[in-house]
Amino acid sequence: MSARRRVGVLVSGRGSNLQALIDAAQMPNYPAEIVLVISNVPEVQGLIRAEQAGIPTRTINHRDYPSRETFEAALNDALKQSRVELLCNAGFMRLLTESFVSCWLDRHLNIHPSLLPAFKGLDTHARVLAAGARITGCTVHFVRAAMDDGPIIAQAAVPVLTGDTEAILAARVLTAEHRLYPHALRLVASGEAQVRGEFVDGMPKGPAEPALFSPPLRGSS
Ligand code: GRF
Repeated sequence: MSARRRVGVLVSGRGSNLQALIDAAQMPNYPAEIVLVISNVPEVQGLIRAEQAGIPTRTINHRDYPSRETFEAALNDALKQSRVELLCNAGFMRLLTESFVSCWLDRHLNIHPSLLPAFKGLDTHARVLAAGARITGCTVHFVRAAMDDGPIIAQAAVPVLTGDTEAILAARVLTAEHRLYPHALRLVASGEAQVRGEFVDGMPKGPAEPALFSPPLRGSS
């Protein structure tokens, strides 16, 4: 196998998506390795997960810096020192400047718990329920300066079910996130998915079966 791509992961909390990436990167033939985990919040579970996996960690607390630019310069220094090639946001809760985003253009991934471009932003699952949507899901995309915006790499559809609360729906979507993120990173790290303008190549070639109908299809179909 050719050299694995060196990946840095940015977290702010629980780090369950980070864990999914750590687990995937331990599989033989996975085209990426996680070489650094950075948290902007001290002592979060994401840092503990990385330490337990023997991955170097850094805490770069945005509160210790006078501006976004100086905070991001510290991020970039750490990423450079670890020779990071691809960057993954995994529950990273800071908005990044255009300058940082352009520095990592098309090498920087994010996961969002909706089928983008629907339901960008926070409180996603509450808004999905309030809208009466029947299908939601999750998206991994390349990062652009606008929040939850950018070329879509991969998506998974998840049904909204009778009786769902925000917590129940979040848990169902999270299970899909943990499968989707390693899949999307594999596509990018292996070179299978490449950005062309504002779209990503590497769409599946037919047959064009819908991934999920909600309510389910009945009868002969
Ligand atoms: C996930 O739902 C992710 O999609 C969103 O923030 C949450 C982070 O969860 N961006 P975790 O820290 O990966 O457990």
